[in-house]
Amino acid sequence: MNIILLGPPGAGKGTQAKRLEDKHGLVQLSTGDMLRAEVKSESELGRRAKAIMEAGELVPDDLVIGIISGRIEEPDCTNGFILDGFPRTVAQAEALDEMLEAKNMGLDAVIEMKVDDQALTERIVGRYTCAECGEGYHESFKRPAKEGVCDKCGSTEFTRRKDDNADTVKSRLKAYHEQTAPILPYYDDRGMLKQVDGMADIDEVTRQIEAVLAEAKSTG
Ligand code: AP5
Repeated sequence: MNIILLGPPGAGKGTQAKRLEDKHGLVQLSTGDMLRAEVKSESELGRRAKAIMEAGELVPDDLVIGIISGRIEEPDCTNGFILDGFPRTVAQAEALDEMLEAKNMGLDAVIEMKVDDQALTERIVGRYTCAECGEGYHESFKRPAKEGVCDKCGSTEFTRRKDDNADTVKSRLKAYHEQTAPILPYYDDRGMLKQVDGMADIDEVTRQIEAVLAEAKSTG
């Protein structure tokens, strides 16, 4: 099963993608994570992306399309994948259609996570992750069971993303509304777009996504 999770920054795409990975044996393909790995390794691509990401703007289409095109050819993607953060422009959506067709693959569901802009800043500014295993947490919505200790791996080191601050969130939201929201009608016109309430609590959002996937399975 191949799925796209769409939604503004902080909508919960990464949180839900991790759950789908665990439950369905799919691979999470997060272009944000891939780009951050490039920045960390100081590759040529990473050097080009760094300042753009820190400003909350979108990295050029050709760079991101190149990363995804190579990644979905890897063997672990044959069972299916969840695209998290891609596509983000109409040009990326068109390129995705072309690459899937060339590889004889398709999409089973495109799921929009709807969240109010006001809630997003709070979610993003309160977010932190385990430095060891990458498990995500939030100061108000998802704290570790034992304060300061990762539930998953026991590490006591946590990190915050450089672009997770109130100023950069404004630019990221602007980029979403101006450049990414136009892909919603792109998928809606093809009868593929489904919506879930991203304002609900994390478990309820998972339930709504599972209902969309069950329907896609029964009709596909
Ligand atoms: P990327 O890493 O994709 O960031 P993003 O889209 O801004 O999304 P986030 O990771 O911030 O949010 P999320 O929706 O995954 O939310 P999460 O689950 O963590 O992109 C970063 C940058 O890379 C971009 O700005 C751009 O520069 C570049 N880039 C990436 N892809 C690109 C592309 N295709 N083209 C061009 N440039 C690209 O949840 C957020 C917080 O809320 C967490 O703390 C979580 O615990 C909490 N939470 C989650 N769900 C709920 C809930 N239901 N209720 C309460 N709290 C919740």
